[in-house]
Amino acid sequence: MLVARELELAALDELLDTGGIVVIEGGPGLGKTALVEECVARARRGGWRTLRAQGSELEVGFSFGVVRQLFERDLASMTEADRGRAFAGPAALAGDFLIGRDRVVDAHDTSFALLHGLYWLTANLAGDGSLLVAVDDAHWADSVSMRWLGYLARRLEGLSVAVVVAMRPSEVAASDRFVSAITSVASVLRPGLLDVAAAAAVVRNVLGSRVSDARCAALWRASGGNPFYLGELLRGGSRAMQHDAIERPGGLERPTDVVTRHVATRIRRLDPGAALLAGALAILGDGCELRHAAAVTGMDLDTASQLAAGLVDVEVLGASDPPRFLHPIVRAAVESSLSADERRRFHRAAATELAADRAAPGQVAAHLMRVSPAADAWVLGCLRTAARLAMASGAPVEASELLRRALAEPPAPQERVEVLRELAAADVTAGRASAVDWVEEALSLTADQRARAAIAHEVAQTYAALFRWVEAVDVTDRALVEIGDRDAALSALLEAELVVDGMHDAR
Ligand SMILES: Nc1ncnc2c1ncn2[C@@H]1O[C@H](COP(=O)(O)OP(=O)(O)O)[C@@H](O)[C@H]1O
Ligand SMILES: [Mg+2]
Repeated sequence: MLVARELELAALDELLDTGGIVVIEGGPGLGKTALVEECVARARRGGWRTLRAQGSELEVGFSFGVVRQLFERDLASMTEADRGRAFAGPAALAGDFLIGRDRVVDAHDTSFALLHGLYWLTANLAGDGSLLVAVDDAHWADSVSMRWLGYLARRLEGLSVAVVVAMRPSEVAASDRFVSAITSVASVLRPGLLDVAAAAAVVRNVLGSRVSDARCAALWRASGGNPFYLGELLRGGSRAMQHDAIERPGGLERPTDVVTRHVATRIRRLDPGAALLAGALAILGDGCELRHAAAVTGMDLDTASQLAAGLVDVEVLGASDPPRFLHPIVRAAVESSLSADERRRFHRAAATELAADRAAPGQVAAHLMRVSPAADAWVLGCLRTAARLAMASGAPVEASELLRRALAEPPAPQERVEVLRELAAADVTAGRASAVDWVEEALSLTADQRARAAIAHEVAQTYAALFRWVEAVDVTDRALVEIGDRDAALSALLEAELVVDGMHDAR
């Protein structure tokens, strides 16, 4: 039961009455998810269709990860006819994107057309009824999904669609324009810390009505009024720990350290395999498949199911199918208990399992970004594919990060030139000056005359995109001399580049 949230719940009821968008802001443990859940429950009771997604720390760089979560489950459970209606009209492009997983749509304005297609898909799904779009932990959502949410938020007028977004404001960069595009059109709710009376109500809900005022007040002080920490102190009947915390109110230990210690103690009550499974689940993240976690640890699925049930009993997991931690703070606590080496091993195994199961390349790459470089051709291929998809969906910064990691793998000398050119293209689209270094290196590594002319053209275009006209002219000049009369088409291309760049070069 939620205490002291009457205002917030009234605002969510209003959202369901009128449509529009509500943003719930607050630090970890303040009750954002609880409010989102309540909003979803109320919508479902009212016969609404609901689409849900949750950002995760791991998948911040996986473009459209949150959008995929929102739609994929709903689409998978549809009949062919319903799907036809969902993808009618301008929504067709969204269909290509969401169903044809690996397809790179190679249009120049893909990203914008896709935003528009996804908007129409949302409108079609709302149809004659009403639709709630709920995004939790949006501070970890990928930037393109946030861009789309902003696009949707500004076009809700006339649709029977309501949007609820929860996020930790301190964990999004203040300059993040996609976030401000959303908050500027939303009603913002900021659930606060519980006061002593509200905390006492929570304590008595759990421990019974006979708990003394003094004890309630001590628990309130120890938790700082944060509902999650209060719950943690009351968890699992661990009375010793309650005293422990109460005797050292505001003690030297940080709250997150207290949680890490509590969680470790709870896991130790179970079979030793439970710690291993919890570690794999922390790496795979909320909502993963239990069979993937089982495979990562090398245990069979039955054993994993039993252990997961145990982890639910000791309140480390909130659910076992699909597995979900009780709270992101608990997931982070389990992850922090792994050694750096264990983390890397789990990420590598997770990538293999996900790829074998045909997961989206961006999801596989999210794990590979956390694996040590090992000149592995498979890893390199996955990173490049994911980067191509990121570019096609309008996420050059993410593509750039993937390709930087690919370059560190490192590629074989022949492949290096290709990776450098892709990285330069990503960087220049992202407005990063380093684009020049990559494409210059690609040129210096290339001996073949025709290939050199083509890359020189890219070098010139890169300089031009960064308004460095003098260098653009110089590099084109040199390339023209080099190619001589060996290739008329390439020469013409370079001549044209020279004309354009030359207009800006005062010489
Ligand atoms: N107002 C409240 N009254 C009672 N319990 C609450 C309240 N808000 C949150 N909780 C509980 O505190 C815990 C943390 O809340 P959660 O919604 O997960 O926080 P957040 O999403 O902001 O990190 C959950 O167990 C939740 O049920
Ligand atoms: Mg939450």
